[in-house]
Amino acid sequence: MNSLLADPATYADGVPHDHLARLREQAPLAWVDEPDLVRHSSAGRTVHRGSGYWIALTHAAVVEASRRPESFSSSARGAFLVDPRTRSDLVQARQLLVNMDAPQHSKVRRLVTSVFTPRAVARLVDGVHRHARRLADTLHERGEADAVADFAAELPLLVLADLLGLPPEDRHLLFKWSNYLVGFDDPEYGGGDVEAYRRTMFEAFQYAMAMRTERQRRPTDDLGSLLATAQVDGERLTDREYCNFWLLLVVAGNETTRHLLANTLLLMSGHPAERRRLIADPALMPSAVDELLRMITPIMQFRRTATHETTLAGVRVQAGQKVVLSYAAANRDPAVFADADRLDLGRDPNPHLAFGIGPHFCLGSHLARLETTAALAALGPRLDGLALTAPPVRLESNFVNGLKSLPIRCGQP
Ligand code: HEM
Repeated sequence: MNSLLADPATYADGVPHDHLARLREQAPLAWVDEPDLVRHSSAGRTVHRGSGYWIALTHAAVVEASRRPESFSSSARGAFLVDPRTRSDLVQARQLLVNMDAPQHSKVRRLVTSVFTPRAVARLVDGVHRHARRLADTLHERGEADAVADFAAELPLLVLADLLGLPPEDRHLLFKWSNYLVGFDDPEYGGGDVEAYRRTMFEAFQYAMAMRTERQRRPTDDLGSLLATAQVDGERLTDREYCNFWLLLVVAGNETTRHLLANTLLLMSGHPAERRRLIADPALMPSAVDELLRMITPIMQFRRTATHETTLAGVRVQAGQKVVLSYAAANRDPAVFADADRLDLGRDPNPHLAFGIGPHFCLGSHLARLETTAALAALGPRLDGLALTAPPVRLESNFVNGLKSLPIRCGQP
């Protein structure tokens, strides 16, 4: 049984790039069996048998599947690896933007792009740099710290609070909710506990609804108010649609960037020559950020479902089969990236797929780039004093390339 890639526990030791590379050398797609998934609820312990899936490993195969959404659907069974359990779970899941196909997807995405504009993000620039400088100064003053809790988690949460107009102290709630939801398979976070997952969703939705009511009564000029009152084709979002989108922003806007920043510090700690190169030449910043995105690939994969019998990169795929787009494998494809396992902060061109490609291309890419630039700029020459004081602890997830803790020393070199 070839289930290594599906098993969340595999990722406790890091992304299995060697394994992905061996599979990619053999064929553009590989078949992966799924290990039993254990879920806990008051009804007892249930075991879910996944059907197994195709994993697209080459850059070309991931691009092809992403550009053929009518054949490789996000909505048929959702964009996450595990199938929704019941028809009603699937119907609920389809209210989330990532789990939609056209025409509904285009309509809701239009709504989001109309409120989540480059202008809305541009207004955040000064605040993002200010938060990053304060966090970097605190790291420096403390000398030793956990780079995840004290830096990488904090920056995206502070920025989200600004973006949505939340009281900054409430960011700890967002942290807790997204740990539970994204870390559902990790024994320390969700632990596969279905009821805890539902309770978390309920708590988050209650918070989002209270905010909607408040903003409808007293609108402000932040994204939270725009969302609370937004309309698609003249119709208000239903409460459920609003809550789902709010939660998507809160989770997508926080976990992803947290893991990008934490893994950035981890990579930099092991590449002294590259970090000195960046310190000496800050003009490298844009290419450095893209290279970090390529090497880290914070979201390792999303999933599609074949809507009919077809071929992908020349491999026959049956109707209804799961097709996982491995952004992590595509971003190390030697057919596209010379010396693909090497960190080269000046790499250009760099057509990485860390934000996906096609109709579901990430809506927060500009914000994620801004936060990473601000973090690196704020650390500045202090990056060179960066060293690990203990090994990192990784998230057990086959979805995000996550770190739970990263003990570091960060002082003047
Ligand atoms: C390093 C940071 C980030 C990474 C690596 C990342 C990655 C991705 C990827 C790979 C997708 C494609 C989904 C698919 O293939 O089905 C996506 C979609 C999305 N991202 Fe991000 N993301 C990041 C940051 C953000 C931020 C900061 C936000 C918002 C504040 C955000 C909001 C979204 C949304 C709303 C979608 C859904 C788009 C759609 O389905 O049309 N992301 N992201």
